[in-house]
Amino acid sequence: MPAGRRRPTGGDFPDRGDRRLGGRIARTPRKRYGPRIADRPSVPIPKAELHLHIEGTLEPELALAVAERNRLPLPYADAAELRARYQFHNLQSFLDVYYETMDVLRTEEDFADLAGGYLDRARAQGVRHAEIFFDPQAHIERGVPMATVVEGLWSVLAASDHRYGITSRLIMCFLRDRSLASAMEALESALPYRDRIVAVGLDSAEVGHPPSEFVELFDRARQEGFRCVAHAGEEGPSGYIWEALDLLRVDRIDHGNRCMEDPALVARLREEQVPLTVCPLSNLRLGAVGRVEDHPLLTMLDAGLLVTVNSDDPAYFGGYIDDNYRLIQQHLGIDDAQLLQLAGNSFRAAFLSDAERARYLTELEEYSPADR
Ligand code: HPA
Ligand code: ZN
Repeated sequence: MPAGRRRPTGGDFPDRGDRRLGGRIARTPRKRYGPRIADRPSVPIPKAELHLHIEGTLEPELALAVAERNRLPLPYADAAELRARYQFHNLQSFLDVYYETMDVLRTEEDFADLAGGYLDRARAQGVRHAEIFFDPQAHIERGVPMATVVEGLWSVLAASDHRYGITSRLIMCFLRDRSLASAMEALESALPYRDRIVAVGLDSAEVGHPPSEFVELFDRARQEGFRCVAHAGEEGPSGYIWEALDLLRVDRIDHGNRCMEDPALVARLREEQVPLTVCPLSNLRLGAVGRVEDHPLLTMLDAGLLVTVNSDDPAYFGGYIDDNYRLIQQHLGIDDAQLLQLAGNSFRAAFLSDAERARYLTELEEYSPADR
């Protein structure tokens, strides 16, 4: 760890030099031959992840292990065979595989393993704070109760700061391609867990399911004290982003790429500094952009929008959050200042207390992009 860098507080981080002995700090003797500069491991930039579906972190290896534990038949010989199915041409082709694969998740232990697996990977990719979506209706409709999902996830997330050095929050997403009544029921069943869930969101198949169908639901959620976010403008038109802002009164827009087709909307988003949680690898894998080079992220930044970079469903899209940062650095020519801007935006857009936000922004100030 370079001089001046603050070590993450709490957690079982590898000891890199200082050992506490009887209340005094003892320094481990220096190795005679230290690592050469070229061998020094790169340090990922500290960042918050704000658009991450926990069910989208179900790696094929874990899916197969959980299926076996629950004695469920999965028609794949091995993880490679399951992974070979992860070829998508649009959002629906992904959602079909996503819902089918998550059917292996049945017990609290399954959801705990899912959360632990994600946090392990997130820590290695520089995540310091994670706001994690989950899809309760997708579980309730298969007979897995809200309690199993929330208790399982919470058994790991409650101690994420201490165990992984990552603060975390839960965001409950409603499935926009199911009925309003089903979403209302999910909201009611989440009320006992009110203190564990910071916000509600809206996801699943977007086109044909505008935000305007869910006004009553979001009004009720807001009355209950939840913050609000919504996927909009991923595949759906810019009009859905207007609706999410004006009718659902969201604090952030998830994706939002198609705002770039609508100059008046760009002006509104810039003026109000509405955060957009953009997911480059997801956009590439689901065909929202044909080539990385065509991704609008740089144009969005140049337009003064409060853009963040996120991983969406990393087990399915071929990379976690730092892989997304690296992708845009390599293919869009993002410079160091823009990299720091994006990571700073992630903390600015997070549902953090002022003290937590200040702590993370200070940590970011101490980071040097040369360490990447
Ligand atoms: N969009 C909509 N719904 C989703 C997504 C997404 O990217 N991932 C999981 N559910
Ligand atoms: Zn998403």
